[in-house]
Amino acid sequence: MASASTGTVTINTGAKLPLIGLGTWRSSEEECYNAVLSALESGYKHIDTARIYENEAAVGRAINQYLKQSNTDRSELFITTKLWCTDFQNPEKALRESLERLGLDYVDLYLMHWPVAMAPGKDLFPSRPDGSKAFLNYDTWNYLQTYKLLQKVLPLGLTKAIGISNFNKAKIENLLTDPEVTVVPAALQIELHPYLPQFELVDYAKSKGISIEAYSPLGSTGAPVLENATLVELAKKYDVSAATVAISWGVQRDIAILPKSVNPVRVASNLKVIKLSAEDFQLVNDISKTESKRVVNPDWGVDIFDSDATFN
Ligand code: A2P
Repeated sequence: MASASTGTVTINTGAKLPLIGLGTWRSSEEECYNAVLSALESGYKHIDTARIYENEAAVGRAINQYLKQSNTDRSELFITTKLWCTDFQNPEKALRESLERLGLDYVDLYLMHWPVAMAPGKDLFPSRPDGSKAFLNYDTWNYLQTYKLLQKVLPLGLTKAIGISNFNKAKIENLLTDPEVTVVPAALQIELHPYLPQFELVDYAKSKGISIEAYSPLGSTGAPVLENATLVELAKKYDVSAATVAISWGVQRDIAILPKSVNPVRVASNLKVIKLSAEDFQLVNDISKTESKRVVNPDWGVDIFDSDATFN
């Protein structure tokens, strides 16, 4: 029997991170407001947004509406937003602007969205006069400098925790071995689903005290992961949806799963989890042996995921 997930993992600040959160990437303003409100009404405690999604205002409106109508205390929710690449040199200002849009006094987690610095300014995807993307090269400005600025933001109370997203192992090592890095990131958010289980990276990050969050847990737009035959079979066996199998597998790994949906019925059903037997759990673990795929891989001009030998 599927039941609504109330599970949490304790992150390295001592806070409790709910194991299922609503993803909001590619949700437009109005869709997003409705999705977030219906998520909170159906029991979600965790909402994930980002500056670059351009929906923080709608997310915040829905959160504040829910807090008011349900008389819920803000402290019962876990809200994440993310620093965009063009704001790498002033994360405090960027976070204050995000909070302004969200209509919140603080977020629970502020993540560096990508380990890539881009030229500052109003344009979120700046380009150079020759049309190429305006990345700042590693020696000009990099994620280490930004992370050190984030460490200084932490005591201001604007966020309860700081973390990283889309970092590979080499970059995490580079961060953790920097003598000026004194705060271990609370979380690492990465693409993760049965086609991209990320076993090594998850084990490494967890061994360092970094909790894992999974974005695109269904394979992003169109949910391609749900067509997998093993998931479909297990869904029949447990009498749940393939999405519930994929989400439950992640939750069983103690990973915070962030399914995105704008459909209230799917939003509610994505909060349900089952306990997979050890054999069935292993079947899902094995899916990537025959079918493996990364869905989100923007062109940053450098290969930021697989170049484990390099950190820049
Ligand atoms: P929709 O928003 O119309 O529900 P991901 O979480 O990997 O980013 O996947 C998001 C995609 O999966 C969206 O296209 C979303 O569509 C779809 N989706 C979300 N939940 C479910 C579900 N339970 N069953 C089928 N598709 C889903």
